[in-house]
Amino acid sequence: MSKSLVINRSQLSESEIHRFSNTLQEGQVLLQIESFAMTSNNVTYAVVGEQMSYWKFFPAKEGFGIIPTWGFATVTESQHEQLSVGDRFYGYYPMGQQLVVQPDRISEFGFIDSAEHRTSLPPVYNSYTKVSPQASDEEHYMSILRPLFMTSYLNYHFLKSNDFFTANQIILTSASSKTALALAYMLKSNQLDHGNKIIGLTSTKNIDFVKKSSYYDHVLSYDQVNSIENEGSVTVDFAGNSKTLLSIQNHLSNNSKFMSMIGLTDWTSMDQSAPLKNAKFFFAPDFAVKYYKQHGAGPANAMIQDNMKEFIKQAAAWIEIEFIDSLEALQPTYVNMLNGKIDPSKGYIVKPN
Ligand SMILES: NC(=O)c1ccc[n+]([C@@H]2O[C@H](COP(=O)([O-])OP(=O)(O)OC[C@H]3O[C@@H](n4cnc5c(N)ncnc54)[C@H](OP(=O)(O)O)[C@@H]3O)[C@@H](O)[C@H]2O)c1
Repeated sequence: MSKSLVINRSQLSESEIHRFSNTLQEGQVLLQIESFAMTSNNVTYAVVGEQMSYWKFFPAKEGFGIIPTWGFATVTESQHEQLSVGDRFYGYYPMGQQLVVQPDRISEFGFIDSAEHRTSLPPVYNSYTKVSPQASDEEHYMSILRPLFMTSYLNYHFLKSNDFFTANQIILTSASSKTALALAYMLKSNQLDHGNKIIGLTSTKNIDFVKKSSYYDHVLSYDQVNSIENEGSVTVDFAGNSKTLLSIQNHLSNNSKFMSMIGLTDWTSMDQSAPLKNAKFFFAPDFAVKYYKQHGAGPANAMIQDNMKEFIKQAAAWIEIEFIDSLEALQPTYVNMLNGKIDPSKGYIVKPN
């Protein structure tokens, strides 16, 4: 028997454990999930599960959905001649104990899951990377930070390719989130090139944590928007709080050059009808296709790896890994995250077995 944590799609705070058994067909492989990361990004997958098809990756019973995660798994049964028991892969996994995949385009680097229900979904989510058979502690940082860093690395290059919309400062909301910190790191490490100031907006309780990162030139709370200098600005939004965005826009007026909408951490405060100007949603997988085409897969991967390694090294100083030992124990943490009860210095790793 295998277990998954399933979420009620019309009442996100309700979850239950679903038990089922997996039987392999010819060409399929069974992966036993060892560990996966849980951050607000996974909560957002649930919040936009309907509009952005995140419920389609790992189908569940009627009315319920399984939240996707990033983590590591090992092959425990194989009906595919090119994959063997013991092979390990990093990739996109359900909040569960097992995943059955239909490997295709297999190489020494990994494979693509060609299961029919996944073929229309963005390719970056269907790709599994082969990793060492030996698990390591570093892998936990990779599960937590790799997908978030990728987004911010790409957003940095998106802003750069638009000459930072002629701004003098970049404002990041939910500045304590790991994705925002990754963008702040990219901006700080390249500040001599672009010259923009880096402003972090966060909740009052998280100001000290954000300051400690030293990636931001100024850190302010959400009620201090009016102290931001009124000059050419790009806002990169990880929070999705329309009131905050409107207050930035009203304060900066024509100096609000662009708003790059990335996240929805504060998901209950988003008003789709808020009259935001120069605002555009940033979907990392779409920009990734352009970036890889422009630089070539090899050089693009090498540049991302170099930057990510350094970020992860630095992040280890401010993220404390906390383990959650079962899907049952994940339920209260998930609900806390949904309700914004989060300590940004924690990095959660779930061991579902
Ligand atoms: N578009 C894309 O391709 C893409 C890719 C990756 C991530 N993202 C998005 O980036 C955002 C950040 O994700 P993450 O995993 O880096 O987050 P995280 O590290 O778990 O962020 C924690 C922080 O988010 C804020 N927060 C979380 N839940 C909240 C709630 N319910 N109400 C109010 N504030 C809340 C708080 O920050 P403050 O106090 O600082 O506000 C909190 O300290 C997510 O919305 C994620 O979906 C988007």
